[in-house]
Amino acid sequence: MSDNAVYPVSSEWANNAIIDAATYDEKYRRSIEDPEGFWREEAQRLDWIKPFTQVKGTSFDQQDFGIRWFWDGTLNLSANCLDRHLETHGNTPAIIWEPDDPTSRNRILTYNDLHEQVCRFANVLKANGVTKGERVTIYLPMIPEAAVAMLACARIGAAHSIVFAGFSPEALGGRIDDCASTIVITADEGLRGGKRIPLKANVDEALEHHARDVSRVIVVQHTGADIPMDESRDVWWHEAIAAGSHICEPEEINAEDPLFILYTSGSTGKPKGVLHTTGGYGVWCSMTHEYTFDYRPHADGSNQIYWCAADIGWVTGHSYVVYGPLANGGTSLMFEGVPNYPDFSRFWHIIDKYQVEIFYAAPTALRALMREGDDYVTRTSRKSLKVLGSVGEPINPEAWEWYYNVVGEKRCPIVDTWWQTETGGHMITPLPGATALKPGSASRPMFGVQPALVDPEKGTLLEGATEGALVILDSWPGQMRSIFGDHERFFQTYFSTYPGMYFTGDGCRRDEDGYYWITGRIDDVINVSGHRMGTAEVESALVLHPKVAEAAVVGMPHDVKGQGIYAYVTTVAGTDDSDELRRELVQWVRKEIGPIATPDVVQFAPGLPKTRSGKIMRRILRKIAENDVGNLGDTSTLADPGVVDDLLANRPHA
Ligand code: PRX
Repeated sequence: MSDNAVYPVSSEWANNAIIDAATYDEKYRRSIEDPEGFWREEAQRLDWIKPFTQVKGTSFDQQDFGIRWFWDGTLNLSANCLDRHLETHGNTPAIIWEPDDPTSRNRILTYNDLHEQVCRFANVLKANGVTKGERVTIYLPMIPEAAVAMLACARIGAAHSIVFAGFSPEALGGRIDDCASTIVITADEGLRGGKRIPLKANVDEALEHHARDVSRVIVVQHTGADIPMDESRDVWWHEAIAAGSHICEPEEINAEDPLFILYTSGSTGKPKGVLHTTGGYGVWCSMTHEYTFDYRPHADGSNQIYWCAADIGWVTGHSYVVYGPLANGGTSLMFEGVPNYPDFSRFWHIIDKYQVEIFYAAPTALRALMREGDDYVTRTSRKSLKVLGSVGEPINPEAWEWYYNVVGEKRCPIVDTWWQTETGGHMITPLPGATALKPGSASRPMFGVQPALVDPEKGTLLEGATEGALVILDSWPGQMRSIFGDHERFFQTYFSTYPGMYFTGDGCRRDEDGYYWITGRIDDVINVSGHRMGTAEVESALVLHPKVAEAAVVGMPHDVKGQGIYAYVTTVAGTDDSDELRRELVQWVRKEIGPIATPDVVQFAPGLPKTRSGKIMRRILRKIAENDVGNLGDTSTLADPGVVDDLLANRPHA
């Protein structure tokens, strides 16, 4: 298939979708020309306790920097996701949970069920002294209790901080400390592909070294493993919720009160606590979930079955497993397991089992499945599918074509959604009834989003078909509001590189049709299997090892993961740079951060290429990691050009 393939919108889609091409143009124009009017109307999709009169109060400029939306209004997002659906949809499934092991019992929670659980658990939180404005750390696998815990926090106005259950005790402890939560919610164990993940043991270990203020750990009994419980600190979830009332009135929450914190990696320093607030985020998730996936009930009033395969530990799980679909009264499928267990057909079996109509996943999973051949796909039906989504990293045209032709049988538009933890929800994406598709392009902006490209060096705006650094010119309701505990860092990280604009960290090309093609990060962040990893974080982990003097980490191309982690390590004098040490360092990083940070390559380097002022020249390290060594560029400014020869000679994959 050529690079220039275009897939027009089918007439069936154009005639039946919520948004067709003309509506897209009209709504987009209005959203930019009259943001106040546009968002005043769009925000009516939520139920407000006290209606807002103010809509947009935002500036990206240093003098009057600030971002607030709907700020004199109040609402409760848990009530928007639950209570308001009960009268008409109480018996409709809100969450369908599919366990890791396909022979285990699944769980279906109707809106009534979920509401009751959330009220009960909100009372448990209150009984444990959690009050509005506090932070609650959630370290749970993909089980319904995760959604219950999130919505219970939202109900009482506590901010949740979810830590992905694949993170190590060390990483968990750091995140608990940073947001100073006094309560942690976890499970005895998680299950993924038949493997047990010792979550409670990880919490215990995290609390040994960190987070000494944690006075309560609430533990979901999931696998039934025999785990130690500290009587003064630990309580079982099922016992706690049985003891309390099932009635809990939702708190009145200001639109700009925090909803959650989610830690994400940046180019420098420790992970940042991205802070999202309630009103604007709620509007953004609900709106994008509806328009991007064309999500609405069938003609007979029954729900479309929608499945976002992301983990709730990432922002995609927040916005598109929980808040977006539930705000819209939808049915959200939640899957505990992995794509290759018990075999490579698992995704497609689940789609057939529940007649999933909308499926949303990351390219890395698709690439891993594509490798195994079409048979695992074609032996399943998938007739129910209507829309396919992609998220988290650029989707290469080859994987796109496979998704489109083999999985979707040329019937299902692919929405390649570009966005970030910071943006709260979709920013650039096709809409199924409005946008002709180009494989590999996230295409056109969502309503209210003004993408632009700037010259990375000069910061000047670039017009027409061109390539540059991707910025957003004005605020949108789902935008993050701060970095928890460090508002100054928020401004510096996102608004100081190109003054007056939000800098995404991504590079991007715009073609002659105005389509955007994300080319990947242009800062020191790498995207491993759709997960963000700061090179600085991996470096800090490596240098904690007693035998490591210095480390530099860069991304390298990887067929399945998109990018892999390439670590250059200088050991302390007298160390034997053995394969054994290499393996030890890999394990060390896994222990410090978690398996997602596993280095793919460790190259021992007696010296790193540095300028005379001591700055590591990452450009050279990246080229070597990419095996693009014909063109290393100017090395004359290096303090010791000889180190490059050594690096080239000792490449593990040379
Ligand atoms: O580089 C972009 C890439 O993922 C980054 C955001 O990562 P994170 O905050 O973890 O959020 C992931 C889920 C939204 C972006 O800066 N990215 C995300 N979606 C796409 C993408 N790159 C290309 N195409 C996408 N559809």
